[in-house]
Amino acid sequence: MATLSSETVLSVHHWNDTLFSFTCTRDPGLRFINGQFVMIGLEVNGKPLIRAYSVASANWEEHLEFYSIKVPNGPLTSRLQNIQPGDKVVISGKPTGTLVQDNLLPDAKNLYLLSTGTGLAPFMSIIKDPDVYDRYEKIVLIHGVRWVSELGYQDYITKELAEHEFLGEMIREKLIYYPTVTREPFRNQGRLTDLILNGKLASDIGLPQMNPQTDRALLCGSPAMLEDTCKMLDSLGFIESPRMGEPGHYAIERAFVEK
Ligand code: A2P
Repeated sequence: MATLSSETVLSVHHWNDTLFSFTCTRDPGLRFINGQFVMIGLEVNGKPLIRAYSVASANWEEHLEFYSIKVPNGPLTSRLQNIQPGDKVVISGKPTGTLVQDNLLPDAKNLYLLSTGTGLAPFMSIIKDPDVYDRYEKIVLIHGVRWVSELGYQDYITKELAEHEFLGEMIREKLIYYPTVTREPFRNQGRLTDLILNGKLASDIGLPQMNPQTDRALLCGSPAMLEDTCKMLDSLGFIESPRMGEPGHYAIERAFVEK
């Protein structure tokens, strides 16, 4: 039977009208690999109403953090978006997911984290993992969104994390954060698939075109984004991790948006 724990909301941050994140207490027994997801939700009429959410905090952090869209009539998020510090959320089941280093072939130079929308969440956990920095020379985090206001965590990544007591030096040296916006002016514009294929990303960040000899990738976004990004990577010679524990050049996870 799935374990069900009741946790207390500690803080809530509304990024804009459509996105929010929150932190909650963590059962000391909850162990996870950075990049994995758990089932979380609320108790509604005495029953747990839960959905898959990537953990956005790292496994060494004391609290859990989650990043969510607000679906106006979504059974869970229409309620979850109103949580306040002190409220209870439920966490169920064992952490799982494919966005883990065991699914990637070893001996690469660069790790690309390709995300759109709330697909950023698992990568917020991964970019705080010291072991991942040990494994690669550069970590390239791409976050594609429609509107500038959807660039959640932008200041946190560029300011707070870069100054972090233990991670700051590694992050300043190895993390390349590349936000890109598709529907209004911004310094980087366009879909990540186009920016990779047309060489714009590579020239902006000063790395060679993505290739399976030196690069690995983890993908998290909408089904359409995943389909097109897989096609693009396949065309560049990348091979997807066929299943859990069998490594490839890249691995994918659907951003869980039906909420
Ligand atoms: P666009 O504005 O051109 O649709 P969404 O909110 O629909 O998930 O989109 C988040 C971001 O992902 C947007 O910038 C969107 O660009 C982009 N996107 C949507 N579909 C794809 C796709 N098939 N490949 C790459 N990027 C995509």
